[in-house]
Amino acid sequence: MNLRGEIFFPGDKSISHRSLMFAALCDGKSKISNLSTGKDVQSTKNCLIDCGIKIYNEKSSYIVEGGKFINPKKELDCGNSGTTVRLLAGLLSGQNISATFVGDESLSNRPMKRIIEPLKLMGLNCSSKNFTLPLKIKSSKLNGINYKSQIASAQVKSAVLLAALGSNKPTSFIEPVLSRNHTEIMLKALGVPINTKKLKTTISKITRKLKPFNFNIPGDPSSAAFFAGAASMVKNSNLVLKNISGNDTRLGIFSILKQMGVTVLKSNEKNILGEKIIDITIKNKILNGIKINENQIPSIIDEIPIIAIVASQAKGQTKITGAKELRYKESDRISSIVLNLKKMGADITELEDGMIINGPKKLKGTFIKTYHDHRIAMAFKIASIIADGENQLDSIDCVDISYPEFLETLTKIT
Ligand code: S3P
Repeated sequence: MNLRGEIFFPGDKSISHRSLMFAALCDGKSKISNLSTGKDVQSTKNCLIDCGIKIYNEKSSYIVEGGKFINPKKELDCGNSGTTVRLLAGLLSGQNISATFVGDESLSNRPMKRIIEPLKLMGLNCSSKNFTLPLKIKSSKLNGINYKSQIASAQVKSAVLLAALGSNKPTSFIEPVLSRNHTEIMLKALGVPINTKKLKTTISKITRKLKPFNFNIPGDPSSAAFFAGAASMVKNSNLVLKNISGNDTRLGIFSILKQMGVTVLKSNEKNILGEKIIDITIKNKILNGIKINENQIPSIIDEIPIIAIVASQAKGQTKITGAKELRYKESDRISSIVLNLKKMGADITELEDGMIINGPKKLKGTFIKTYHDHRIAMAFKIASIIADGENQLDSIDCVDISYPEFLETLTKIT
C-alpha cells in the first residue's frame, strides 16, 4: 500500500467552536462555511441556541444571528466537549447569563477547577460538584484580574479572556508555554482590544457591538495529523494535506515528524481573519526516535496518540515528558496509549508525565480499548495499516466527536 494524493479536511474544531461563539457576540448575521461536522461543535451550537442565539443552515454554510443572549431555560448539555463548557462558561459569565452546564460521563469527570478558580477571582458567583460538572454560574458583576496560570491551556486562557469581555477593567492572562491562540487572533481581527506580548495577553471590555463576519474555516490539522502519521510510516507515500490551519501553535506534529526524518513541505499559504491556511506534503523516510519535552507539548497536545504510534516505528528511543495534561483529556491518554501499544507488541514504558518508546517493533493487530476517546480510536485504526492483522476497536462511533468523515477518508486513501 502507498498513501498518495490529496485530502481535504472538515473545518478545524477549535476554530469552529470559536467562530460560532464569536458570531453569537456580533450584532447581526455572520456566515460560517466549512464548520467542523463533529459532535463537539454541535454541542456548542446547541448550547448557543439554548441561550437565544439563532443558528441555521443556508446551503452548505451556517448563519448565526448574534447580539443578544438570554438565560437558558434548561441545562446546557456540553456532551463530550471540554472546549464547549470551558469557553462558554467564560463567555456567558461576561454576558451576565445564569446557566448550568452538564456533560457526558467523560466530561463529568474532567477538572473544572482550572476555570472556576480564575472566574471566581473575577467575581463570578458559581458552584460545582467538587470542581467537576454540573457547574452553575450566576449573573455577576465581573472585575479585571492579572492571572498567572500554572497550566498551558487554551481552554483556560480563552475562558478568562472571554469573561473579560464583560468585566469593568482590563484583564491579563499569563501562561507558562504558549497554547493555541485562535481566541486572541480572531478577537483581534474582529476589533476587540486585545494584545499579546510573549506569554501575556491583555484584553479590555468591548464597548460597542462587534460587526458580523463571513468565515471559511481552515481544515483541521488535528484530523490531518492521523493521515500525516500514516504517510510517515508507509513506504513511497506522497500525501498532500490541503487547506489546513497553518497556525503555528497547531503545527507541532509537523516539526516533530520532520525531526524524526519525514519530508514535510509547506506551500500555498493564505490568510483569513488573521488565521493562516496552508497545504502540507508528507513523504515517508527512515524514522528516528527523538526527545519531546514540556515546551513542545501544547502544540501537539491532541496529536500525541498518533505521534506515539509513529514513534513505535522509529529507530531508537522516543521519550515524551512534560505531558501530564494528557491524563485529563477525553480519557487518560497516557494510560490508554501505553496499554494499547503494549498489547500491539510495542516496547513502551509509562511515565507519570509521558512515555518512553523503543523502536522499531513490528506491531500486531489486537483488541483495542478506546475508552470512547475519538483520538485513541483514530490513532489505533491508523496503527492497523502497519500492523500484522487488523485492530478490533471496542468503539468506533466515538470518531464522530471530532471527525465523522475519518473512516470514509481512510478507505479512500488506503
Ligand atoms: C482546545 C484546547 C486544548 C485541546 C482541545 C481543544 C481549544 O485543550 O486539547 O482539544 O479549542 O481551546 P487545553 O487547552 O485545555 O489543553
